[in-house]
Amino acid sequence: MLADFESRFNHRPAGIWSAPGRVNLIGEHTDYNEGFVFPFAIDRRTVVALGLREDRIIRVASSFAAEAIEISLDELIPENLAGWSAYPLGVAWALGRFGADLGTVPGFEAFIDSDVPIGAGLSSSAAIESAVAVALNDVWGLGLDRSTLAQVGRLAENRAVGAPTGIMDQSASLLGKADGGVFLDCRSLESDVIPLGFDAARLDVLIIDTRVSHAHATGGYASRRASCEAGAAALGVSALRELGVDDLPRAAELLDDETFRRVRHIVTENQRVLDTVQTLREHGPTRIAELLDASHVSMRDDFEISIPELDLAVETARGAGALGARMTGGGFGGAAIALTPRDLVPDVEAAVAAAFAERGFRAPVMFVVHAADGARREQ
Ligand code: GLA
Repeated sequence: MLADFESRFNHRPAGIWSAPGRVNLIGEHTDYNEGFVFPFAIDRRTVVALGLREDRIIRVASSFAAEAIEISLDELIPENLAGWSAYPLGVAWALGRFGADLGTVPGFEAFIDSDVPIGAGLSSSAAIESAVAVALNDVWGLGLDRSTLAQVGRLAENRAVGAPTGIMDQSASLLGKADGGVFLDCRSLESDVIPLGFDAARLDVLIIDTRVSHAHATGGYASRRASCEAGAAALGVSALRELGVDDLPRAAELLDDETFRRVRHIVTENQRVLDTVQTLREHGPTRIAELLDASHVSMRDDFEISIPELDLAVETARGAGALGARMTGGGFGGAAIALTPRDLVPDVEAAVAAAFAERGFRAPVMFVVHAADGARREQ
């Protein structure tokens, strides 16, 4: 990192910061409905080396793009941002909406590297946003807390990148802890880190990346969000978070079938998040498996965001010994997670690889992740 930064910018950075990707254990598409999510930060990280300049120029470079991008702070508006640099530059812009005085702060140079897979549903984008957010928060002396920095990342994603996402990914990346899940109320933004206990139970979370890449800025994600908003409006609530399972019979009467199923996913998924946290606290991690399965069925049948590759990954993993499995993230591609007894991970991997080959699907990439600490300064 130091060498990469120094060879591009010819001086030493002020420091090095990092932030992880995330896996969502449960609570899918509930964040923008002001409900509950329960993700954890993973041991795959984005690292940023950053140094201040004496003028108003920003230059960002990365290991995943050939050219450095340069822009003046005076031109830093979402309309001027595009491509991968919209993530780091979008954060710099968004900090201006949360207290940074962009008329007086100095410019900076940043070099970004990452081992969070892109397009796998593991939030490589939130990892960049969170790493840059903590770095600029330090060097610009802003004193913003983690919850505020998550809102900064979401604003960058919504306005600079143009993806209408919620606050889950940035929250996981900023608030995660080793062996802990981030239980977040997306309305109050109150959060609690709950011990997962996977290691002690000899359980692993196996990622099955289908390598079908998803694009949140387009299509399905936005249309699901629109259905949820339409459902909430028809039912007279400001967000679907306000509905409980008891409200579903009334919703069935008032809504068309498709909107009802979208609403039912959100309402039951919120309940599953609460049940997962309670089950974990009272009985430990083995017992949450059936909630993971139920979540997948709900996403497959009610929210309709799964794809054949994800369904095959989930079914095959379960058949080969995983205790529970579900697709994770926004859907329409990306990865599934399988909560698997450690000894059975090789069996599950072999079964999934064989099943994909048999169906003629592209070979998936599989690896185990562990819950890791959130964003931090490294040097
Ligand atoms: C993406 C978004 C999140 C969340 C999930 C679905 O990861 O970035 O805000 O909506 O999809 O749960």
